Amino acid sequence: MKSRRTFLRQMSASAVAIGVTPSLLSWALPLPPNDTINLPGEDGMIVRSFRFFDLETPVEYFNTWLTPVQRFFVRNHMHEPSELSVPDWRLTIGGEVEKPLSLTLGDLSKLELHSVVNTLECAGNGRSLQRPQVPGIQWGKGAVGTAKFSGPRLRDVLQRAGVKANGKHVMFRGLDEVPGKVPPFIRSIPIEKALDSDTLIATHMNGTALTKHHGFPARALVPGWIGAASCKWLTEIKVLDSEFVGNFMSPGYRLPNLPIKPGDAVKAEDTHPVTALSVKSVISGPLEGSAVKAGIVSIHGAAWAGEAEVAKVEISTDGGATWNSAALGHEQSRYAWRLWRYEWKAKSGEHTIQSRATDKQGRTQPAEAVWNPSGYLYNAVDQVKIHVL
Ligand code: MTE
Repeated sequence: MKSRRTFLRQMSASAVAIGVTPSLLSWALPLPPNDTINLPGEDGMIVRSFRFFDLETPVEYFNTWLTPVQRFFVRNHMHEPSELSVPDWRLTIGGEVEKPLSLTLGDLSKLELHSVVNTLECAGNGRSLQRPQVPGIQWGKGAVGTAKFSGPRLRDVLQRAGVKANGKHVMFRGLDEVPGKVPPFIRSIPIEKALDSDTLIATHMNGTALTKHHGFPARALVPGWIGAASCKWLTEIKVLDSEFVGNFMSPGYRLPNLPIKPGDAVKAEDTHPVTALSVKSVISGPLEGSAVKAGIVSIHGAAWAGEAEVAKVEISTDGGATWNSAALGHEQSRYAWRLWRYEWKAKSGEHTIQSRATDKQGRTQPAEAVWNPSGYLYNAVDQVKIHVL
């Protein structure tokens, strides 16, 4: 396995290759939007932070239902574990259980394997588009991807341990290396979601063992929920009688109960944890600022809705005055995005193309996103401006 030092050396070499000075490696925040990097195994990704390694997928890659692992966004709050030895690795299950467990990777592999195709989206995806802007990683549109995650069900492991009647929440701890005084990445989910038959202890992604960036050797997979629920480099699962109290549960990853105006203060008791994803679509082509020939132009992209099903995607090419339905791709699965396509007869001139998804719960992408202080769940109607020749 690659040590952190080797990893940084490789990153340094790649950074030089794209003209980023090595001194920027630890604090390069953020880079200009279009700087891409070719790290070994990471294909043309946009670097949002070198400090803890945050990589965004360029939207033009959203043209396959499953996102290849090397094109799948990476979001780390702190350093990845530098050493992970499979023989030494253990996953402990404790807290409000009858029989605490300590499992090896071999133990996990003996449990029934279940697969879930899931669209994983960072709660902060699209943050850079919020107005007024808010602090945090300035993600564009690509902190999202879809993969087939496989591993034992969390429920099977919890049932072996025997959850006590007062076990109401399940906490995950990762093996991140915590710099200085930064609080560790520990979060919890309610017991109902933990016992859902699609919530996994995932060991595989798109049919191969998880890579280190995505949580090797095992991560939680909480389908339909914000990426932060799916803790990487799992080492401890603890059943609690109440929600875990810690920085990444509060003030982190919470939304005001009612919309607030930029600058207004909001009390902790007037907020709730962010859980399931919103309804959203992204145009993956034509690309912003591109020039295309007049005639039939294929407008395409992806749409998802967390735990809900996408009902339709509509396209406007006249600034939102009229909308036409896009054709939805045939590949689908409960928590996965749908690819979509619309053939447009384009006449020469400057055009704004918009896409708007609606789900079966009746939610539709709004013209403007609901502003919130952390820029979570940005889901305004997507748009690109193009030139038709
Ligand atoms: N798990 C740990 N241990 N540490 C982290 O920083 N980041 C979370 C989540 N799990 C994180 C984590 C966030 S915010 C997201 S969006 C997803 O991982 C991203 O998963 P990925 O890097 O595999 O795309």
